[in-house]
Amino acid sequence: MTRTTAAPIDGYLGKSLFPLPQTNQLRALHTVIRDRDASRQDFVFYSERIIRLLVESALDLLPFEPRDVRTPVGAVYRGLDFAADLVGVPVVRAGESMEGVLREVCRSIRIGKILIQRDKVTKLPHLYYSALPADISRRHVLLLDPMLATGGTALEAIRVLLEHGVAEERIIFINLITVPEGITAVCERHPAVRIVTSAIEEKLNENAYMLPGIGDFGDRFFGTDK
Ligand code: PRP
Ligand code: URA
Repeated sequence: MTRTTAAPIDGYLGKSLFPLPQTNQLRALHTVIRDRDASRQDFVFYSERIIRLLVESALDLLPFEPRDVRTPVGAVYRGLDFAADLVGVPVVRAGESMEGVLREVCRSIRIGKILIQRDKVTKLPHLYYSALPADISRRHVLLLDPMLATGGTALEAIRVLLEHGVAEERIIFINLITVPEGITAVCERHPAVRIVTSAIEEKLNENAYMLPGIGDFGDRFFGTDK
């Protein structure tokens, strides 16, 4: 039996939900990592290429301010500068797969951690640990988790951020693969949170894995699968 969803997600597009353009290149990258026979080396390399696209796209949702610079030929380029202080917050463990790329793109970014694990049987999230910068409430948060399935983990991570004074509209959730159930769970409760994703799957199966999906992302990325 598979769980199906009739959850309409179109209403969230451009407000809470920002999928990457489904280009042939992106689909080719996904094809490599969806393949159950992909080597771990390929899985990591091609996942990180997609993560880079996601990070660059998420940065586009941040506030900017005008900044003029003089070019080598003496003219003025009327440009822009980032106008927000950031913190990256990976949800341990799988979210840590995204930390390296974020650090490459945003050098010296602050990094917080939230450790949440789904119970192996109930699939309900359990919060074990969090460590966040003391001034997180004045920062914009890039929340990192490659998987948004039932939404339980994301809701728990967002709860922790709100408890630390972060405004909903300052949370950008960077995600590799999601499903309508997870999108609906987050967007109904927290409409000002923005989700940037590279793929929206069809549905969840009875074990709360996404279909067609990717299997257990953390196990494949970190090499702990059987
Ligand atoms: C996975 C994944 C997400 C969560 C998503 O974590 O990394 O955090 O499941 O599922 P949900 O939307 O149904 O809550 P998991 O607990 O399996 O641990 P891992 O990070 O060690 O893989
Ligand atoms: N976590 C994963 O790693 N994969 C899924 O399909 C769902 C949650």
